[in-house]
Amino acid sequence: MSLSDMGAAALRLIDPETAHGLAIRALKTLPLLAPGADDPVLRTRLAGLNLSNPVGLAAGLDKNGEALRGLSRLGFGFVECGSVTPRAQPGNPRPRLFRLTEDQAIINRMGFNNAGLEVFAKHLKTRPAGTVVGANLGANKDTEDKAADYVAGLKRLRGLADYVTVNVSSPNTPGLRALQGRAALDDLLGRLAEARSGDRTPVFLKIAPDLTPDEIALIVEASLDHGIDALIVSNTTLDRPDTLRSRDREEAGGLSGRPLQVRARAAVTAAAAASTGRLPLIAVGGIDSGAEAYARIRAGACAVQLYSALIYGGPGLVGRIKRDLTERLRADGFTCVNEAVGTAR
Ligand code: FNR
Repeated sequence: MSLSDMGAAALRLIDPETAHGLAIRALKTLPLLAPGADDPVLRTRLAGLNLSNPVGLAAGLDKNGEALRGLSRLGFGFVECGSVTPRAQPGNPRPRLFRLTEDQAIINRMGFNNAGLEVFAKHLKTRPAGTVVGANLGANKDTEDKAADYVAGLKRLRGLADYVTVNVSSPNTPGLRALQGRAALDDLLGRLAEARSGDRTPVFLKIAPDLTPDEIALIVEASLDHGIDALIVSNTTLDRPDTLRSRDREEAGGLSGRPLQVRARAAVTAAAAASTGRLPLIAVGGIDSGAEAYARIRAGACAVQLYSALIYGGPGLVGRIKRDLTERLRADGFTCVNEAVGTAR
């Protein structure tokens, strides 16, 4: 076990939100070594971005984009920070983060706690070179016209991130998920397209796993109509599978980690069936092994992201997933990730 994995094991013994704060502080201050170069077989192209490997950090760990240097040392092919809202907000009262250890899962109802766009922009200005960084946008809880908040985020962060994600799928901000319906989505995506006005920074849309295949197909078409560059599938679920055993399983909020695996895999499969290669996909939800990352790529994703598995597996997990993925790609005769995308369809 490496020193950083031992640190992660120690963090699992204390209150989850305190542990999160300590992890961010460690990532900001510890002199972590740069990871070795990625095996060329792991290269992937995602909406015009060249990634040295397809394993990304999902949004929510670094809400303010303050630990990008440390996170860039963990071996991710790309790192997404946020969600950021235009104005700083405290989020929901604590406790709002629960470890479901027996289930290798997390429930969170953080409610977009963050320091706001200005602080976020300042951090992005000093982001480490050579790391692909995405900025995930949210909307303030008390904003009536939610679409206006995404437009404000897009405009303020212009030129500061390699891609921007429009997160309409957090279950912890009332009204947010309603933006996934066709009329609201057309309004939001139309206004975003107008705000982009020639800026070529890719814009991704992050959706919920609690949608039917028909709803997902509708979102795919709306995304294509409005020039969205990729879909991130998916956010946390409101579902509580019967298999959950942990004490905190009935807590309100979004469930992530292992119990989300089946649902998130089904959602990305539905998105792939609807998009038939027209819209790049990023798979998220319960990815905790090379086998699962490979299954999502073969289901149609160009890249994957993870968060919860990092809490249980420690930072060494990223390297383990990459090594396993390398072996699987080679064994099946692929020379890069893109060749494997959608081969299970
Ligand atoms: C999240 N996630 C998240 N997503 C997002 O788009 N914006 C956010 O601010 C957050 N915040 C957040 C906080 C916490 C504590 C967790 C656990 C998750 C969702 C995350 O990016 C991811 O989509 C899900 O967690 C599913 O992936 P995993 O965790 O199963 O790998």
